[in-house]
Amino acid sequence: MKEIESLPSFRPDSLDEYVGQEEIKKRLRIALQAAKLRSEPLDHVLLAGPPGLGKTTLAYVIARELRKNIYITSGPVIERGGDIAAILSSLEEGDVLFIDEIHRMSKPAEEVLYSALEDFQVDVMIGKGPTARSVRIRLKPFTLIGATTRSGLLSPPLRNRFGMIFELDFYSVDELTKIVERACQLMNIPIEREAAWLIAQRSRGTPRTALRLLKRVRDVATVRREERITPNTVLRTMDILEIDSLGLDEMDRKILRTIIEIYDGGPVGLEALAATLNVEIDTLKEVYEPYLLRSGLLVRTSRGRAATDLAYQHLGYKRVRGGLFDGYPAEPSEDKGKNCSGSLEGAS
Ligand SMILES: Nc1ncnc2c1ncn2[C@@H]1O[C@H](COP(=O)(O)OP(=O)(O)OP(=O)(O)O)[C@@H](O)[C@H]1O
Ligand SMILES: [Mg+2]
Repeated sequence: MKEIESLPSFRPDSLDEYVGQEEIKKRLRIALQAAKLRSEPLDHVLLAGPPGLGKTTLAYVIARELRKNIYITSGPVIERGGDIAAILSSLEEGDVLFIDEIHRMSKPAEEVLYSALEDFQVDVMIGKGPTARSVRIRLKPFTLIGATTRSGLLSPPLRNRFGMIFELDFYSVDELTKIVERACQLMNIPIEREAAWLIAQRSRGTPRTALRLLKRVRDVATVRREERITPNTVLRTMDILEIDSLGLDEMDRKILRTIIEIYDGGPVGLEALAATLNVEIDTLKEVYEPYLLRSGLLVRTSRGRAATDLAYQHLGYKRVRGGLFDGYPAEPSEDKGKNCSGSLEGAS
């Protein structure tokens, strides 16, 4: 566990600087203000959503807004009940404890957390065998912020102990443009508005992706000795990275192509798909699938995942007969695959 004193450079310091997630910010502002007025710690917060959407960042921002220390740990490293009891008893009044990947905490640790969250006390066993006894430790009131990419895996008793549960949503292109422009300002890189927008458009609704793409675009600008990032710089970079106009990379396209070519467009079960693609089910589910679902390229049906008409169109396949999910075979059209970098045409 470590105490974070200064924020990593791109991370916003305040709720005002945190771009997007307006509904969540609105509710948080009220809760923060009320906690301050009552001089009480903020109620426990659960942040859920796909990777890179700003859960950790928001936890830092909340601690900043509360002007309290934040301590960081993560579910998989807390094995025994005693581990979590030790962490909790070291917290000062109002401190924030951030547990990342909280759905991966062990059961004994989770059980210790229940009474800590509800009554600010924990019972720990001291000693072993016949001399073992249970000791109750009172804790100073604190705020737990849990983060999870899989809120569905959280046990109901743990979930119910959070006063606020926020599901983070993908960002709009305009919001991501702001994030890219802000990072450029911090790094002192001149960028044209349209270039920032193009990066945003290819960032799968995800700030982490936007910032990662920005770094690669900057590399290209550096190598080409460009003084500013222009739309041309962005399009060249995307061409090199093989990222298409929807922000899909080779793996995303492979997933869709596999469903279309091998499973006739689906539906196909997640297990079968993961096995064919040779990827972990969890990676497929947590990393790739959310954006494909969100952008309407993939749908979840009771019988598995299926490619949509949009996916066929985007990858340049023609659907042979019938409508969605009727199991008719798909045939690639002649211009198959060209579409994916279509918007890059004329870029260089
Ligand atoms: N709303 C936002 N405004 C500005 N920058 C953001 C925002 N959300 C995220 N970022 C930036 O995006 C990056 C990824 O965010 P963060 O690490 O908080 O994501 P996460 O949800 O915790 O991901 P993971 O599930 O992988 O832990 C960070 O560098 C952060 O600065
Ligand atoms: Mg995180």
